[in-house]
Amino acid sequence: MHSRPIPATGEALPVIGCGTWMGFDRAPGSAEFAQLPGVLAALFEAGGSVVDSSPMYGKAEAAVGQVLAEGAVQGRPFLATKVWTTGRAAGIRQMEESLRLLRTQCIDLMQVHNLVDWAGQLATLRQWKEAGRVRYVGITHYASSAYAEVEQVLRSERLDFLQINYSAQERGAERRLLPLAAERGVAVLVNRPLGGGGLLRRLRARELPAWAGEIGCTSWSQLLLKFVLAHPAVTCAIPGSGSPPHMAQNALAGSGTIPGAEFWRERHADLLA
Ligand SMILES: NC(=O)c1ccc[n+]([C@@H]2O[C@H](COP(=O)([O-])OP(=O)(O)OC[C@H]3O[C@@H](n4cnc5c(N)ncnc54)[C@H](OP(=O)(O)O)[C@@H]3O)[C@@H](O)[C@H]2O)c1
Repeated sequence: MHSRPIPATGEALPVIGCGTWMGFDRAPGSAEFAQLPGVLAALFEAGGSVVDSSPMYGKAEAAVGQVLAEGAVQGRPFLATKVWTTGRAAGIRQMEESLRLLRTQCIDLMQVHNLVDWAGQLATLRQWKEAGRVRYVGITHYASSAYAEVEQVLRSERLDFLQINYSAQERGAERRLLPLAAERGVAVLVNRPLGGGGLLRRLRARELPAWAGEIGCTSWSQLLLKFVLAHPAVTCAIPGSGSPPHMAQNALAGSGTIPGAEFWRERHADLLA
């Protein structure tokens, strides 16, 4: 799998990761939980590492922690999670709980989820980074209604990462946020790269376009992910999945040809359903 540098350090990050919203909110012992080692195995076997979670995602952090601790999956994860609460003490409590559930001493990336209490939480995150309990700090959002505030924070704060929604059907981040992230040396994780799943479901009723083979794609999910990776500001896309075959298919988008914006200019319309 290709990787791209995190601007703050130059560390290489594989370009496809795994989101855990819904897909990893599973109870141990359930048939769905039993799929999860296969999801992370598919990610790691393809050369990926980024696993994105949040205390907002129910049992997802606990599921990631348990699967990794059971040792059946080999690979070095890059663990990203979030703080999603108000107030310093509550933020610290929540992050301590995330470390416990993920069964780690250090989170690779801690993000302020949906900008909730961002000024207060970022202050704590910086202290945690100094203390070596998190390696990178960032903010997230998923809705264009928040872009003005996201832009303000990107301009005024020193961040390592921005996580934002971007897909063939949600291109608003191209206007200001992605260029600004590049200018400010901020890595970008892309959430909702498959349009939250809805875009992909609609496209799957159609035949793949004839040109898919030109860039080595055999599925709509690969096309949608390669579209996202065409933007030079994007560091890694994190499609959500609780399905091993879906994760394996998605990971393929991170290898082979990744064409730039020029390629998509005339083909983008084929990705809309
Ligand atoms: N504010 C925030 O911080 C924020 C907001 C939104 C999302 N996120 C993060 O970003 C991640 C990605 O966003 P998302 O999960 O909302 O949307 P997404 O990645 O665009 O779509 C996920 C959906 O697509 C399905 N899917 C994935 N791969 C597939 C494949 N190859 N074939 C068919 N179906 C496939 C998944 O179902 P299966 O499980 O069946 O594969 C799931 O229903 C989240 O999981 C979360 O970690 C963060």
